[in-house]
Amino acid sequence: MDRFLIHGGNKLSGSVRVSGAKNAALPQIAAALLTPEPIVLKNVPELRDIDSMIQLLRHLGAEVKREGELLEIKAVELSCVDAPYDLVRKMRASVVVLGPLLARAGETRVSQPGGCAIGARPVDLHIAAMEHLGAEVRLEQGYIVAEARPLVGGEILFDKVTVTGTENAMMAAVLARGSTKLFNCAMEPEVIDLGRMLQKMGAEIEGLGTPSISIEGVKSLHGTEHSIIPDRIEAGTYAVAGLITGGEVEVTDCDPEIMRSVLDKLTNCGARVEVNQNSVTTRPSEIRSQDVQTAPYPGFPTDMQAQYIALMTQAQGSAVVTENIFENRFMHISELNRMGADIHVDGKSAVIRGPSRLTGVGVMATDLRASASLVLAALVAEGETVVNRVYHIDRGYSHIVRKLRALGAEIERISD
Ligand code: EPZ
Repeated sequence: MDRFLIHGGNKLSGSVRVSGAKNAALPQIAAALLTPEPIVLKNVPELRDIDSMIQLLRHLGAEVKREGELLEIKAVELSCVDAPYDLVRKMRASVVVLGPLLARAGETRVSQPGGCAIGARPVDLHIAAMEHLGAEVRLEQGYIVAEARPLVGGEILFDKVTVTGTENAMMAAVLARGSTKLFNCAMEPEVIDLGRMLQKMGAEIEGLGTPSISIEGVKSLHGTEHSIIPDRIEAGTYAVAGLITGGEVEVTDCDPEIMRSVLDKLTNCGARVEVNQNSVTTRPSEIRSQDVQTAPYPGFPTDMQAQYIALMTQAQGSAVVTENIFENRFMHISELNRMGADIHVDGKSAVIRGPSRLTGVGVMATDLRASASLVLAALVAEGETVVNRVYHIDRGYSHIVRKLRALGAEIERISD
């Protein structure tokens, strides 16, 4: 298993280009199943999770050609409609093929994704949505077995805001017979970007970016070309890297408009962040502690919680960070405390007292964003930090060693 060796203490400086958003690319690759015509996706990040989704589409019979950040997908014929356990267990977001396969083939067997490090990750809301569109769904030996002959438009009210649940429902409804209304939808930019791609394929969708989405089913969808929006979480992570090391980091090819909750929070902490059309630049700042609560978009994203906690270990004062989305997303904290942080967990909240002097030690990555948090802490820790099990970070941060080295970080990957 690969690990990172990081010598902390360097002030980062320079420019880093943000890649396309992982959580926009994954459902859009699945959406290519909705048409036999070619789909071309640009600005697709080079990540393990994308590899996993491409592997799943090829398993289903799609032809997928990749040239760097360009993907061409042709799902002319589906050779099977099963998403097997050995593929889904690698990446639980594979569940987003449920809606497209029901819409295209009228039936599917998708392995239940099961939980992961950050929580149980149930898919009951996905299943309920399919049932509201006329599908018969049953759970059988760890698989979601669904049939819809045909899918018919209906009304779906999500009990909780669910990003991929909203995406699955949209991708099923666009080819269902009749009208569909979705209520209490996720409004994440990645959901909107999927909706825009579907519209370019001929889908009739109104209300993107609001809690209520209306969809008029169409007979078929055609191919299209679409460029993935920038990754707001990767962008936020590099902005924190600049701030935590007291450097000047320009994060380019990002969209500050979709980073507002994070940029506002950082500014409230005293961070000097210059915002331009497609970039943000951090300046050396005196960071003060500020409380934060994670929430669905446009609130503070849960995917930035771990990175924010790393920054709060260097802030003046005491901050309360409350994780409202996932039940077990504080696993970075014990590792940060081993580095010398002063963080106390109380239920859904963590109290971080700063600033703490961090020291490089061996730490264990447990999930994607926890890994990012440990790397950020290592950048400011004294001495050498060894971050183990970095395959977690390879799922969501493309070329992170190259990007951080270009900013002046002393980081190298050790492959066993
Ligand atoms: C998406 O996961 C993202 N993944 C996650 O990013 C992100 O953390 C999450 O949304 C929240 O923003 C992708 O888009 C591929 P949810 P998703 O359904 O859709 C509960 C990362 O780091 N829920 O919005 O799986 C669920 O348990 C990853 O890039 C149900 O109860 O998250 C959670 O408490 C991690 N039943 C809450 O809703 C369901 O059927 C929000 O989950 C579905 C969800």
